Amino acid sequence: KHTIYLCRHGQSEYNTTGRLGGNSPITERGWVFAEILARFAAEHGASVPSRLWTSSMLRTIQTAALIPHPVLKLPDGGNWESMSPRVYRNIDEIFAGDCEGMTPDEVAVAHPQATTLRKMDKIGYRYPRGESYFDLISRIEPCIQEMESYTEPLLIVSHQAILRCIFAYLTGVDRESAPGMETQIQQNVVYQIDLDASSEGKITGDP
Ligand code: F6P
Repeated sequence: KHTIYLCRHGQSEYNTTGRLGGNSPITERGWVFAEILARFAAEHGASVPSRLWTSSMLRTIQTAALIPHPVLKLPDGGNWESMSPRVYRNIDEIFAGDCEGMTPDEVAVAHPQATTLRKMDKIGYRYPRGESYFDLISRIEPCIQEMESYTEPLLIVSHQAILRCIFAYLTGVDRESAPGMETQIQQNVVYQIDLDASSEGKITGDP
């Protein structure tokens, strides 16, 4: 059995004001989740070599910062470096371009067509000077290939839009449905996906 754990970063400063994107740090409440996640990871990865990925954004790096994750040395000269925590840009949050740092209300005023067009075609709509869900799907392609080649458990600390795409892929949901998974990927929850059993589970509660 090969297990993949997915979670969003703990609450960020931008989350408290509903702002898109940015690179804000996590809040006190976010740090509470970071502590819970560290305990969870220690319990689930203690006896086996395991992998840890974060995005390159401060909020995922902070969320994973308390996880005890030694650089592991595999027997027979295995690729031990790849077992270290990995900062992986391909799993950075969707880049909202000119709308970064705005609230949805501010977007509706500054870029009214963005709100309308995105409602009509959320997967295909590309933010001005930013990305679409199709862009995300293509940049997570190499990640998916790698995660499927592993035999060790993998914990991914990433973001809402990216995790919708990864979650949809791993659970066999068609990609057109991923952008609309507005309630499936919640904060303060670790989702467990057992690849060959193709089951899904929810672990850990709300701090
Ligand atoms: O609000 C948090 C956030 O991760 C933003 O940074 C991002 O733009 C948004 O969610 C993605 O969700 P949606 O595609 O539903 O707007």
